[in-house]
Amino acid sequence: MPTSLETSLFIRACRRQPLERTPIWVMRQAGRYLPEYRELRAKHDFLTVCRTPELAAEVTVQPIRRYGFDAAILFSDILLICQALGMDVEFNPGPVFKSRIESLADVSKLHTGEVAEKLSFVPGAVRASRELLKGETPLIGFAGAPFTVATYMVEGGGSRNFERIKSLLFTAPEAANALLDTLTQGTIEYLGSQAEAGADALMLFDTHAGLLAPEEFDRYVAGPVDKVARAMARYNVPIIYYSNGTAGALKRISQLPVQVVGLDFRMDIGSARDILGPNLAVQGNMDPVSLLAGPDQVRRRARQVLESNAGRPGHIFNLGHGILPNAPLECVQALVDTVREWRPTA
Ligand code: CP3
Repeated sequence: MPTSLETSLFIRACRRQPLERTPIWVMRQAGRYLPEYRELRAKHDFLTVCRTPELAAEVTVQPIRRYGFDAAILFSDILLICQALGMDVEFNPGPVFKSRIESLADVSKLHTGEVAEKLSFVPGAVRASRELLKGETPLIGFAGAPFTVATYMVEGGGSRNFERIKSLLFTAPEAANALLDTLTQGTIEYLGSQAEAGADALMLFDTHAGLLAPEEFDRYVAGPVDKVARAMARYNVPIIYYSNGTAGALKRISQLPVQVVGLDFRMDIGSARDILGPNLAVQGNMDPVSLLAGPDQVRRRARQVLESNAGRPGHIFNLGHGILPNAPLECVQALVDTVREWRPTA
């Protein structure tokens, strides 16, 4: 039986229990700002690292060894599911798709069978990581939220105006619904396989959720997240929903069946929590670019985030988006130290 990390600071914060200090980890903490990651990547390409449980586990624990973060996040990528569905994706380092989803016919050609089986190296990496973490640090498993993954499949990579995905929603809703249903089902199987392998928490990344007006947000973003989160409830692990650019959608987000809401840096935590209400923990939300401004700015901005939460239970310190590859190591250290030392003033 996998060990339980219910008593760790991170899991207790997810459950909004009062704590002696605020836990911290940072999105994309396993990655290119770390010299030990770049060294490993010089020998193995990105997909090989993702597909080899021992290598993925090694990268997962690198930031824990260096900084002692309060949670580890599995080394993987939100777009691996697209490969399991039969799409050809390369990382260069940004994702490049060989073909795009343009119609209902394209959706019906996706290989929907055995998604979790084709990604079995991911639960393999969960088990290998948990072994290296020795029951001392909780491990977060994750997937892309269906809408964000759909944007990549329809745009074929990154995008400036997201015209292809929006046109699909507006002019071919049957294709959009079929694509989101396929991704929702695949994500349920895939995230479930990570929970079964022992992930202590599950996170959905919805980086592109902020693109849509309320009607489409409700249908194409919130609907699928609601279904995935409901299906994960049986694992009894905290579910974290991160989205970006969604300050205007927080009321709708507060109705999702998740335990933690990941916030971007565009809103202060206090105002966000006033909207989210007392039953949700929050994770965030320092601007990742702050880490490029020197240790003094890092300390000042980190305290600002902590003060905005004002000691309310249920805050996990994080950045408002992924750490940048050029973040200096001493600034990350200043951040970790500041959060560790901070106590709310009575
Ligand atoms: O440390 C961690 O957070 C775990 C690993 C992780 C990666 N990607 C590794 C990675 C996680 C959680 C992700 C999530 C992810 N992937 C998101 C959502 C979060 C976000 O940042 O918005 C998105 C949109 C992707 C898609 C993706 N994968 C992009 C846009 C890129 C290229 C540029 C970039 O941001 O790094 C990737 C490749 C990728 N995923 C790398 C890493 C470490 C770089 C590959 C390399 O080593 O060259």
